[in-house]
Amino acid sequence: MLKSLYQVLIGAAMISGLFLWNSSIANAQTEPTQLAKAVQEIEYLDALRSGLASTLEGAAEEPTSQTMKEVCKPVGMKAKQLSQENGWQVKQISNQYRNPAHAPDTPQSKGVLARFEQNPALIGLWQRETLNRQNGVRYYRRINVEASCLACHGARDSRPQFVKENYPQDLAYNFKVGDLRGMYTVFIPDVQAALQEAANRQ
Ligand code: HEC
Repeated sequence: MLKSLYQVLIGAAMISGLFLWNSSIANAQTEPTQLAKAVQEIEYLDALRSGLASTLEGAAEEPTSQTMKEVCKPVGMKAKQLSQENGWQVKQISNQYRNPAHAPDTPQSKGVLARFEQNPALIGLWQRETLNRQNGVRYYRRINVEASCLACHGARDSRPQFVKENYPQDLAYNFKVGDLRGMYTVFIPDVQAALQEAANRQ
């Protein structure tokens, strides 16, 4: 009798231990899975731009104004789409911005740009932040200047006509290969991470 009571108690302890262990894993994974997805989506986004820019480089024909416009605009559009699909806030940030919407938006983002500037080996980082009164994780990934970027981000006077006309506040020129161009950022609100996790489990 006593022996079977012990067995029940041990069994109950094991089950509740297993339950606790499982739920702590579930909690711990809430952010890493979202974060891993964000990291991957940003790599795709960066590859999209590099791919588009490289089609202009060494092109036999002079690029038309249409093909010229098809490099960094689509990156911004894709960032918006990723934000809507995932409940994230995805954007590009630069101290030397062409589109004023890409100016640093918080003291933290300015701080991260400075860290990327000081440390060329630093590719990405994430930290806990509060954005628009929401708690979450903000991921940052550096953007370097490649040779193919110079067609539009090189010397001020050699910028394409459409850039000169459409971006009167442009600061995104006079870059050299290897310079820090800016960064991508993804803010993942805690609530969103939890919702997504729940949806994945269904
Ligand atoms: C065909 C011209 C063109 C080429 C080539 C080009 N860009 Fe851009 N870039 C632009 C324009 C135009 C914008 C502003 C887009 C907008 O309105 O959001 C821009 C914006 C950006 C931004 C957003 C920050 C800001 O300044 O507004 C980044 C980052 C950027 N470019 C990086 C790059 C990189 C890296 C490359 C090379 C791999 C590159 N660009 C090649 C035209 C170009």
